[in-house]
Amino acid sequence: MSRPARSIHGEWSSRWAFILAATGSAVGLGNIWKFPYIAGENGGGAFVLVYLGCIALIGLPVMMAEVLIGRRGRQNPVNTLKSLSTEEKAPASWTLLGWMGLLAGFIILSYYSVIAGQAMAYVFRAFSGVFTGVTADGANSIHQSLTGDPERLLAWHTLFMVFTMTVVARGVKSGLEKLVSFIMPALFIMLIILVGYAANTGEYFSQAASFLFTPDFSKLTEEAVLVAMGHAFFTLSLGMGAIMVYGSYLKKETSITTMSISISIADTIVALLAGMAIFPLVFANGMSPDAGFSLLFVTLPIAFGHMAGGQLFGGLFFILLVFAAWSSAISLIEPAVAWLVENKQISRRRASVTIGFAAWLLGLFTVFSFNIGENWLLFGMTMFGLLDYLTTNIMLPLGGLLTIIFAGWVMAKESTKDELAIRLPIFYHTWRILVRYISPIAIIIVFLNKIGLVG
Ligand code: PFF
Repeated sequence: MSRPARSIHGEWSSRWAFILAATGSAVGLGNIWKFPYIAGENGGGAFVLVYLGCIALIGLPVMMAEVLIGRRGRQNPVNTLKSLSTEEKAPASWTLLGWMGLLAGFIILSYYSVIAGQAMAYVFRAFSGVFTGVTADGANSIHQSLTGDPERLLAWHTLFMVFTMTVVARGVKSGLEKLVSFIMPALFIMLIILVGYAANTGEYFSQAASFLFTPDFSKLTEEAVLVAMGHAFFTLSLGMGAIMVYGSYLKKETSITTMSISISIADTIVALLAGMAIFPLVFANGMSPDAGFSLLFVTLPIAFGHMAGGQLFGGLFFILLVFAAWSSAISLIEPAVAWLVENKQISRRRASVTIGFAAWLLGLFTVFSFNIGENWLLFGMTMFGLLDYLTTNIMLPLGGLLTIIFAGWVMAKESTKDELAIRLPIFYHTWRILVRYISPIAIIIVFLNKIGLVG
């Protein structure tokens, strides 16, 4: 059957542009804000090990599957799954996988924007010098005065969403490529500086290293395993079509394997660096590693408040964090925007504004979760907690599971072989065994274990 030669919004200008954009999608708040806090909440070492295992055994094969499906289908996830399932003579209900992805991206964006808004607020706080000489208690109350005020939080959430819609409206290529080629290296350098600063804490630095890298399996709960797996999907932007839609803009000659490996490694390094920047400060200041979502916003100000030039560095760091969040947020609505543009013939601008506005509205629940609505609980979680749990721990792993079943069982071997074009047969076979057996079984076991059916 005939496939569209290319999607309406064109192709990446180069292979490098795709790597940058996909890395921009992967590296974001998930690495710098979320990874340290969930590693802290789930006891450190053993959690980190499971997370790394999930990246290698599940994340990487799923990423390759997503890129190859996207490149073969050449449209938004819903249309891609429709055309590929027709091509492979599979039921059209596979399009539901695309729909679930669109929905997950939309829900994640709603709360992602609220956290990114807090990072924006911190740019101004850092530059203005309020962190100078700050104590742990002081840093805590600075963060609480922000999250406790729904009006301020709402204003930052709004501003971040407007920024996101603006870039998406301009089109993935012109908006995104330029942005990412500058932020990624800068963010990396900044993190190295912060780890260097944390290394000065001496014994606390080694305490942090052993907290993060010495596994103590007695601390590992079923819940922690599910959270680690969910986070592997979240941090690599998998299971919801973001990488699929980026793959749809990829040229045929590019090696999907090399690309996926580079992106996964870069993403993991950034998360580990963030952990090694944050935990020494946690221990040095007598704070608890399980402080939760405010961890980053409380520890880093202490570092910036005490280092030479911290006012400038702090401001710059939060600017980079906002940019990193921005390049991830863009990929969160790209699948839905691409769907509207390709199916409803509306302009990119209108599509971005429509989806962005709807996500902004849903984001109000997260805004209120930290203040007037902190007691609005459902299943024992705040609205923010619930939206995060539903997407990260359920929708993304489920989306990833269905994606590899599609690539491993529904698509013909020739199709995936042709698309991956791996030179050494052993590598292709390894990938195929992973997507057909190992990764799906691992995901299913984690799910079953969590609901208490096995283990
Ligand atoms: N990977 C991003 C992060 O770690 O911050 C978040 C994200 C972006 C998740 C895009 C999912 C996605 F599709």
